[in-house]
Amino acid sequence: MLSYLRCIEENCRLVQSAARDAQQCGACGGLLDVQYDFDPFDPDALRAEWHQRRLSGEPVDRSGVWRFRELIPFMAPGARIVSLSEGSTPLIGARRAGWWAGPVHLTVKHQGNNPTGSFKDLGMTACMTRAASLGVKMVACASTGNTSASMAAYAARAGIRALLFVPYRQISGAKLAQALDFGAVVIEVGDTFDQAFRLLRDIAPELELYLVNSVNPFRIEGQKTIVAEMLEQRAWRPPDYIAVPGGNLGNASAIGKGLQELRALGFIEKVPRLIVVQAEGANPFYQTITSGSPDLMCVDNPDTQATAIRIGRPANWKKARRALQWTDGVCESVTDDEIFAAKQVLAEDGIGCEPASAATVAGVRKLCRAGKIEPHADVVVVLTGNQLKDTDYIVRRRSEENEGGQRLRVDPSLDSLRRALDQVLAAPAGLDR
Ligand code: F0G
Repeated sequence: MLSYLRCIEENCRLVQSAARDAQQCGACGGLLDVQYDFDPFDPDALRAEWHQRRLSGEPVDRSGVWRFRELIPFMAPGARIVSLSEGSTPLIGARRAGWWAGPVHLTVKHQGNNPTGSFKDLGMTACMTRAASLGVKMVACASTGNTSASMAAYAARAGIRALLFVPYRQISGAKLAQALDFGAVVIEVGDTFDQAFRLLRDIAPELELYLVNSVNPFRIEGQKTIVAEMLEQRAWRPPDYIAVPGGNLGNASAIGKGLQELRALGFIEKVPRLIVVQAEGANPFYQTITSGSPDLMCVDNPDTQATAIRIGRPANWKKARRALQWTDGVCESVTDDEIFAAKQVLAEDGIGCEPASAATVAGVRKLCRAGKIEPHADVVVVLTGNQLKDTDYIVRRRSEENEGGQRLRVDPSLDSLRRALDQVLAAPAGLDR
C-alpha cells in the first residue's frame, strides 16, 4: 500500500515521496502528514482480525501499535519492527474523579502503563522502526523528559545512537535517569524546551540527525493508534469526549487524525469531541484558540509545575487546531493548583499519574462548571505519564502542611508517637476532607 507525505497547509498541499523522511514541507516549511491510499476496508472483518491478534505471541501482534498495522501501512509487510510491546494500556473507571469533575462518566486511558511509562512509546516504535529501515546512525530529540526516555529505550533496542537536548535543570530526575540508563548522550542546553528544540532543529541538518520529535510525522502515526485501541476496549462505542493535555501538541494532532481516519474508513460514525487542556503558565494554544488569532500566540517564558507541558511554542499547533475543527473540539486552561487538586482526586480512585496528565481532569471539571460539558457525559481522559515520572513533585506537594498532615516527623518515643497518631487519625480521610 502506498504511503506518501503531504503538507498540511491549505494553499500548498505539496506531496512528497516518503522514500526519504522529511520533517517539513520542502516548499513552504509546513508540517507534514503521512497519507495512504487505503484500499476499501471491511471494518467488521478487520475488527475481528485485530481482536484475534491479541491472542498471538508474535511481537508484531502483541504491540498495541502494530496490532493495528492496517491503519499505519508505511512499512512493507513483514519488515523488521522496533518494538517493546507498547500499547495495550488499560481503560479504567474513575468514579470519584468523575463525580468530582462533573458529575461525568469518567474513564482513564492510562498511557503510563507503557514500557517507558508514557504515551510517547506509541509514537517511538513507529518512528524508530522507520529510522532503522532507513539505516539511520543517530537519532535526536529535544524534550521535556518523556520523549527522551522513550527515544533512548527504542534507540538502544534498534542499535542506533541517541542524542538528547533538554533545558537545563527543567526536566524531572526520573526522566533524565531513564535516558541516561538507556545510554543516550544528554546535552543540557537553554532554559526552555522551545530553546533547546530550536537549537536542535538548527543543527540537525549539519550532523544528519534524524529527529524523533513529534514534528516527525511517523511519530503521529504510532500515536494515533491509541484511538483504535480505546474504541476496541469500548466495543467500538465512541465516548462523548476525549481529553488530552497539550504541550507540543503532537498527541492532540495524532488523536484528531486517528478519529478522522476511523470515521472516513467506516469504523465509527460519531466522532468524540477532543478536549485539549493546557497549564495556565504555558497555554499558547489556549490563547490562540480562544482569541481566534490566525497566528500562534507564543508564551516566551512558559511556567508550570507540570514540567512535561512547559512549552511556549508548540510545533504542532496547526495540526492540533485542525484536530479541534475535525472533532468540534475545545481547549481549556487550568492552574497548577487545579492540576494538583485533580491529581489528588485521581489518587483517591487509586490512580496515579504525572501532573501534566492530571490537567485533563482539571480541564473537564472546569468545562463542566462552565456548562460546556453536559452532566453525565461519557468522557475518556488520556493519562499520558506514569505516577513515578515526577516523584519530586509529589513529595513536595504532599508534604505541604496544609495537605492534611500526611507527612509527620516524630520524635522516637512512644509518647510523641501516640500524640502524633491521635492527631492525624482524628482528621477525616480522603474525599471527606
Ligand atoms: N503529557 C506528558 C506526560 C508529556 O510528557 C507530554 C509531552 C504531554 C503530555 C504533551 O504532549 O507534546 O504531544 O502535546 N512531552 C514532550 C516530551 C514534549 O518531550 O516528553 P504533546
